[in-house]
Amino acid sequence: MASEPPIIDIHTHVYPSSYISLLRSRVTVPYLLNPSEKGASPRLIILPSDDDPSLLPGSRGRPIDPSYTDIGVKLKFMSDHRITASVISLANPWLDFLPPTEGLKWAHMINDELESTCSRHQGKLWAFATLPLSASPSDIVTEIDRLRSLPHSRGIIMGTTGLSNGLDDPNLDSIWAALEESKLLVFLHPHYGLPAPLYGPRASEYSHVLPLSLGFPMETTIAFTRMWLSGVFDRYPELKLLIAHSGGTIPFLAGRIDSCVQHERHFPEHTDENGIKSRGPKRSLDQVLSNNIWLDAVVYSETGVKAAVEKVGQERVLFGTDHPFFPPLDEGAEKWASVETNLNAVTSAQDKAGSRAILGANAIELLGLEINPREGGG
Ligand code: URA
Ligand code: ZN
Repeated sequence: MASEPPIIDIHTHVYPSSYISLLRSRVTVPYLLNPSEKGASPRLIILPSDDDPSLLPGSRGRPIDPSYTDIGVKLKFMSDHRITASVISLANPWLDFLPPTEGLKWAHMINDELESTCSRHQGKLWAFATLPLSASPSDIVTEIDRLRSLPHSRGIIMGTTGLSNGLDDPNLDSIWAALEESKLLVFLHPHYGLPAPLYGPRASEYSHVLPLSLGFPMETTIAFTRMWLSGVFDRYPELKLLIAHSGGTIPFLAGRIDSCVQHERHFPEHTDENGIKSRGPKRSLDQVLSNNIWLDAVVYSETGVKAAVEKVGQERVLFGTDHPFFPPLDEGAEKWASVETNLNAVTSAQDKAGSRAILGANAIELLGLEINPREGGG
């Protein structure tokens, strides 16, 4: 019988023990809260809205169980969902909140811990490392350079705030240059959502729904658009960016973004080598989307997968789960509905070859993964 084609999960998080100790040592967001009720799990307070004093401690944030920290639990989850290999990344909010002098030390420790976890599970685990973004650009570049010595490191995960002024900040140039040179994939992931007033005075009644379903995707859409508008991809044409949650709303809004640019008198017109006139960045939005951008398939719908494929191409869309977030609310369930929804979205949006590509082959090729053939080499 032919072996099953590989499934690679490129969007799957962990909080390594060093990071958990950091969260435990804190009392402001992000931190771990121990509810006073006997036997209650600690609560993970990471989103600004998680720290709502109007809620009892036992209902703030979310309960943190071993799926966030224990690699054995992730490996069991992978086997339950036929996932051949995973590229694990630290979950939000990474190291954004640290004082500048602390960043490099923690990045070093966390990236080494991820590397050691991956090396204990050869052929099954790789990592996206984390950067000390609150530190000086030279510390950040030092860590990027050091990542070359970590054999399982295939890229870095980062949020949208950059050095605190967002991803269109010219002070990021030495970092983009180092990332481009190192060929590491940049996994752009949201954390901050939209300003709280947009969620309205009844936001707490809707818990995480508005920030996660709408705040997160808009945050990444705006962050990427600012990068493009400020010419990051003109200056660093080889930079490779994987955008979480199928690019937020980029596939749907790319036409509108470009149209707004082409109707903006404030941008001078320029002419390309083929004599085509346009405004805005030298490299057009479509050029950037089809050369620099990869999108994950964590979008939970056939329409979303089709839009992602239509915008960046089938070979640039990669399966992910967002584990350990979105677990089944029914604790006994072995299969996660969030994962099955994403799997079915891919297989119903694509033919067999397209599904194979998105589910695993694209990630293997892009990240140079050498998976264990017994685990599915197809
Ligand atoms: N919630 C988070 O805070 N992070 C994720 O990656 C997904 C859900
Ligand atoms: Zn995620």
